[in-house]
Amino acid sequence: NGNAVFHNSLIGFAPCPNPGGPNPTISDDYQYDVIIPWGTPLQPGGVDTNGGRPASEAEALQQIGLGHDGMHFFPINGRSDHGILCINHEYGTTPHVLGKAFPESLEDVRISQAIHGNAVVELKRTNGAWERVASSYNRRITPNTPVTFDGPVAGHPLLDNPAGNAPAGTVNNCANGSTPWGTYLTCEENFNGYFGANETFTATERQARYGLSSGGFGYGWHVFDERFDLTNPDYANESNRFGWIVEIDPMSPTSAPVKHTALGRVKHEGIALTVGRGGRVVGYMGDDERFDYIYKFVSAKNWKSMRAQGKSPLSEGQLFVARFDDDGTGQWLELTIDNPVLAAEFADQAEVLVYARRAADLLGATPMDRPEWTSVAPNGDVYCTLTNNTRRTEANAANPLAPNPDGHIIRWRDSDKHVGTSFEWDIFLIAQDSHGTEAAYGSPDGLWVDPDGRVFVQTDGDQPYGNNQMLVADPKTKEIRRIFAGVDGDEITGIAVTPDRRTMFVNTQHPGNGDPSSTNFPVPGAGGPEIPRDATFVITRKDGGVIGS
Ligand code: FEO
Ligand code: CA
Ligand code: CA
Ligand code: CA
Repeated sequence: NGNAVFHNSLIGFAPCPNPGGPNPTISDDYQYDVIIPWGTPLQPGGVDTNGGRPASEAEALQQIGLGHDGMHFFPINGRSDHGILCINHEYGTTPHVLGKAFPESLEDVRISQAIHGNAVVELKRTNGAWERVASSYNRRITPNTPVTFDGPVAGHPLLDNPAGNAPAGTVNNCANGSTPWGTYLTCEENFNGYFGANETFTATERQARYGLSSGGFGYGWHVFDERFDLTNPDYANESNRFGWIVEIDPMSPTSAPVKHTALGRVKHEGIALTVGRGGRVVGYMGDDERFDYIYKFVSAKNWKSMRAQGKSPLSEGQLFVARFDDDGTGQWLELTIDNPVLAAEFADQAEVLVYARRAADLLGATPMDRPEWTSVAPNGDVYCTLTNNTRRTEANAANPLAPNPDGHIIRWRDSDKHVGTSFEWDIFLIAQDSHGTEAAYGSPDGLWVDPDGRVFVQTDGDQPYGNNQMLVADPKTKEIRRIFAGVDGDEITGIAVTPDRRTMFVNTQHPGNGDPSSTNFPVPGAGGPEIPRDATFVITRKDGGVIGS
């Protein structure tokens, strides 16, 4: 007789309330610790800001940065209690970092720059607590770290400046990816905000498409650092050096980060890498702006054979942009100079890649509601968060709400094991459907599908109530349940796990929006002298089980 099929829900934990307030909340089945807040010395024993601000660039460069975002855990010897965490430091406002509205010197700008970029930090669990390890792997990468370019744009005049300055730095590192060969990918999102103009500046059409403007986001770097002055002819192409996906080798601490131009220049939120037909490595990428696009990169050949030839699999391949048709199918449109539509406007493939947004416009890609993270499920489905779009006035099947203040999650299945030119898609979740339920949420952003198919969703934006949060969804039933909620003013972002998935690392970014009267997390209690600091939560199940179960 036993034909009954029992649906074993993938999510069995107690739902977490979301009361709001200055401290985090977690499911009764889980617990958290807090590690590596901004200002923590990279090497144990270094100078700790202890809730204050870095006193100098030199000090900031020896510390964990600010704007904790995407991250990945690289195990050492396959261990789940010892590894290297690579973490993005997306941004920190000048008032928060410097305690003043605007930089007043080059040193101020250097401090501001030094909290940006990435940290590589070796961690080990001892007696249940994760601690930094004194390590030659530990390093910071900042907007001033030497970098190299590969792919079709490397060596192209569009990356050259009359100043002859060597390529340096990465900035506004938002989400991330990781490669099958054990490296970290960090993604440059709102790079435009760090550029400004000291003279009268009128953006070209192509510059305007990337949001370059005379004031930027108010960082003021351009006032003291000529690289970031859009009107300094010696640095005419400096802004073309940002907006890329950047590879960092955590195991090679002296290696320079590599910017992979074959993946195109957009405001890269993140990248989900998988291996498709023929062993080609395939990367799915969101360009986070209202009405921007979703991209796919396919390596030229089997990734192992490319590496055997001494080539990065990310150095050569095809770049596509997605068109979502209303009938539930879609097309991958290739950004290639071989297409006469692109050849009519661009001189070569390098120019297509530098101005990928413009090329995608010409191809008729579908403008989406702010594509954020992507993740590839074990069954091959690809998920993408579309965080919100208050400016949408016309709905379509893939972006069904106009306006769309709370966002949705789309997913698709490639026609040919990730190397196809078409796909089928459906809407996985619409955030507004959760409103009025126990798991109410809005503005999905961080995303990870675990090897069992659980969909982890992190939020960044106005919530129906309480604080930003992390939820877990069942891909079949679409049931969604909150596992964790952050602190007033923050967003929850970044997901890294140990190989056994019994430890998860998750970040609070901009707690209190920098205001200590809102929260001075991670210092207990609000209103102290300390300013709130971004930090990493270490989440474990009380019974030692897999995170999300
Ligand atoms: Fe940096 Fe689109 O989030
Ligand atoms: Ca984000
Ligand atoms: Ca966001
Ligand atoms: Ca953010």
